[in-house]
Amino acid sequence: MNTVKTVRELRAAVARARSEGKRIGFVPTMGNLHSGHIALITKARQRVDFVVASIFVNPLQFGAGEDLDKYPRTLAADQEKLLEAGCSLLFAPTVEEMYPDGMAGQTRVSVPLLSEGLCGASRPGHFEGVATVVSKLFNMVQPDLAIFGQKDYQQLAVIRALVHDLNMPIQIIGEPTVRAADGLALSSRNGFLNEQQRAVAPVVYRALSSIAESIRQGERDFPALIQAQRQQLEAAGLRPDYLEIRHALTLRPATAEDRDLVILVAAFLGTTRLIDNLHLNLDTPA
Ligand code: PAF
Repeated sequence: MNTVKTVRELRAAVARARSEGKRIGFVPTMGNLHSGHIALITKARQRVDFVVASIFVNPLQFGAGEDLDKYPRTLAADQEKLLEAGCSLLFAPTVEEMYPDGMAGQTRVSVPLLSEGLCGASRPGHFEGVATVVSKLFNMVQPDLAIFGQKDYQQLAVIRALVHDLNMPIQIIGEPTVRAADGLALSSRNGFLNEQQRAVAPVVYRALSSIAESIRQGERDFPALIQAQRQQLEAAGLRPDYLEIRHALTLRPATAEDRDLVILVAAFLGTTRLIDNLHLNLDTPA
């Protein structure tokens, strides 16, 4: 597996693969790779002959006071994991390579409606930063398909919308969240948790599961379900940012008649913000 740092080298390597008749799959990441990322590479390998991963901690999607500076950067370990997983090419650009003219005048991509509320409300500008960098990366790699984790549910919805709205000929695939044995969704930010916080963190998934189970059993008083699980989170020492039940496709607030639901949560444990979600389609068996 080669690692390239410039758009020029990236385009040359992808062009070579294309000239050999290969289909291109793409897995964009911010690095500090865990089994969840590796599952995306494995999925890509099953579908295409040439898998490109990117590692870029994108300043444009971090707000003031967020964890841009302390976001873990572990390139050497990530390269080993990618090699082992069968990745064909790693694109690991610098900030200057991605934003050669700086970020202030950078053309932005914004996806209205889907970017509003949930993480969009707590992290203003975040999804514009994501949509912009993903659009740039898509134009640089020009893959046939791209794979993202469903853990970032709203992000995936935003990316599906931008690809559709901007007529990009790229198939977007969402892969199920990979969880630790106790239910905690794998995330690079889990590394910020101390031992005691790590022991408490699975309460986030338990809250989602409990709401999903109640809905499956016929409960439709969504505000009461939310209130009860917010209390559970608070009792465990978390500070919920949001806990909401939404329509799975449009992300508008769910009504009691909806059958395709997603329960989404963001909560602070100390200074670490954990997010998770559970998709619940009442027309498919549990
Ligand atoms: O999910 C991530 O790791 C990032 O938001 C992404 C999609 C790589 C864009 O920077």
